[in-house]
Amino acid sequence: MKAIIFDLDGVICFTDKYHYHAWKQLADKLGIYFDAEINNRLRGVSRMDSLEIILEKSTKQYSQEEKDAFAEEKNEVYKNLLQQMSTADLSDEVRGTLNELRNRGYKLAIGSSSKNTKRILKQIGLDGFFDAISDGTNISKSKPNPEVFLKAAEFVDEDPADCLVVEDAEAGIEAAFRGGFKSAGIGEAHNHPQVTYKLEKFSDLLRVLRN
Ligand code: BG6
Ligand code: MG
Repeated sequence: MKAIIFDLDGVICFTDKYHYHAWKQLADKLGIYFDAEINNRLRGVSRMDSLEIILEKSTKQYSQEEKDAFAEEKNEVYKNLLQQMSTADLSDEVRGTLNELRNRGYKLAIGSSSKNTKRILKQIGLDGFFDAISDGTNISKSKPNPEVFLKAAEFVDEDPADCLVVEDAEAGIEAAFRGGFKSAGIGEAHNHPQVTYKLEKFSDLLRVLRN
């Protein structure tokens, strides 16, 4: 392995609750049922695809303009909530593991569907830390399409076969597999049949990469 590509939300830090609050606010306004279980389905999925999942419970049909406005509205609420994030939202475990991986000489990159990636990295004090960032701003196809990871590999100038993808979402493990990457799965990502390594915790990466 020469490079490690990390998903952001649910791997490096936890933004689930903010996504949930922001989508819930929009869903309540539109009178659409939304719960934590539906929120789980949004993991790794782009903003517009997430909105489509939420609208599955709607009885109304909306135009593309209306959908764009809803996604924008949700994002404004979400961005406000992100302002609460600080370096305290980066755990000692994640920070220590990243530093150790860097000491071992791996290239470190981000592969996230989020268009707020840089904003979040700044909030948690990882601005400028990664060798490359591939995120929602440089892709046109969301996970489980491998585009975001293929771009990250390209940005660090390594073959997918030499990169390990770290993910918490099944869609992310699927994307890694389709792109020819090995993967390390946390939490729900264990359920995917193609996950290469199952991590109980983030720091297990140090053990897995010794082999
Ligand atoms: C992913 C999250 O990282 O980013 C998804 O897991 C989210 O839940 C997606 O929908 C897009 O995020 P954003 O910040 O571009 O709305
Ligand atoms: Mg994730």
